Amino acid sequence: MTETHDAPARIRPSRGADFSRIYGVGGYRPVRVIPNEEVLQWIDSSDEWIRTRSGISERRWAGPEETVSEMSVQAAGKAIAQAGIAPEQIGAVVVSTVSHLKQTPAIATEISHRLGCGTAAAFDISAACAGFGYGLSLADGMVRTGSAEYVLVIGVERLSDLTDTSDRSTAFIFGDGAGAVVVGPAAEPGIGKMVWGSDGAQADVISQTQAWDTAFAKEDAVNGAGDEIKWPALRMEGQTVFRWAVWEMAKVAQQALDAAGISADQLGAFIPHQANMRITDAMIKALKLPASVPVARDIAETGNTSAASIPLAMERMLASGEAKSGDLALVIGFGAGLVYAATVVTLP
Ligand SMILES: CC(C)(COP(=O)(O)OP(=O)(O)OC[C@H]1O[C@@H](n2cnc3c(N)ncnc32)[C@H](O)[C@@H]1OP(=O)(O)O)[C@@H](O)C(=O)NCCC(=O)NCCS
Repeated sequence: MTETHDAPARIRPSRGADFSRIYGVGGYRPVRVIPNEEVLQWIDSSDEWIRTRSGISERRWAGPEETVSEMSVQAAGKAIAQAGIAPEQIGAVVVSTVSHLKQTPAIATEISHRLGCGTAAAFDISAACAGFGYGLSLADGMVRTGSAEYVLVIGVERLSDLTDTSDRSTAFIFGDGAGAVVVGPAAEPGIGKMVWGSDGAQADVISQTQAWDTAFAKEDAVNGAGDEIKWPALRMEGQTVFRWAVWEMAKVAQQALDAAGISADQLGAFIPHQANMRITDAMIKALKLPASVPVARDIAETGNTSAASIPLAMERMLASGEAKSGDLALVIGFGAGLVYAATVVTLP
């Protein structure tokens, strides 16, 4: 009897499109506007201080009906419509959020179901203010390996649920909202290399005050009668974050430009995470961005909406005509973790 030497079993390679790009963007801003005057009822500050230190005039806070799911469905519905595809063509739904308060199941499955995305893969990611870039990088990979033809990336936050309105260093900063994009196959590169990373040594500089189990343990111990704040909130070392963002993030933004082979004067838009207008201005200077490049300044009316801030700002720039479809935009997100993600994209 002759022995057969079969070739070892080989997994068939999975290949999708050569490249990917964004086909649609949509945003949802809660109805309730919180002007600086309202913030002044909670903290000792002034409209002028808030405007000059952060660039924020007002922010939106979600009402009870404007849940993480509802805001996401509204934003994603617009993005899918603009992409001109049917919801069933979405193969994966990635939801980036740090403020969905129910840990399991992922809110992505509910959102996918409500949108009519059939059996699309659906999951949440936690990458704070870099969450949109992290999601975009996953989407790019999925489209190019063929594990999904179209991917819905949603950044959504209800940061008002995690805001301590008595904290002078954060009460004026955060806002709520959702932004979404549809990523799909393309013949030309529409998403550059993601320059991303983390610095866990600085995990404490922006974080939740306490874990939920600690909070509940305290609640039990004081039998609900203690006067300390038991509901966890976001805390941040403002100056440390500010310095890190200004020094390190301009370098990351430059690396993203270099990786994409694009010079600053070729950009049609600069859309940084809307953390603080002064951080944006410092980055413009460090990047030597020509004055002709429009810059997202959505923070003035939206506040810092973490994962939602870049797609919300992108939508606004396109809707106002400040930026055009097909323009190249430099996007960069950075925040709690610390984490960051930057790339160049072709606008939808
Ligand atoms: C939060 C931030 C605006 C504070 O500005 P800052 O200039 O660093 O403020 P400081 O904490 O150093 O305080 C400076 C002064 O303002 C005062 N101050 C602080 N908060 C204030 C407020 N809400 N209103 C008025 N005055 C305030 C301080 O008491 C201090 O006064 P003093 O000089 O008399 O001691 C700023 O640090 C920042 O934007 N950091 C980055 C935050 C960020 O982007 N986070 C999101 C990342 S995803």
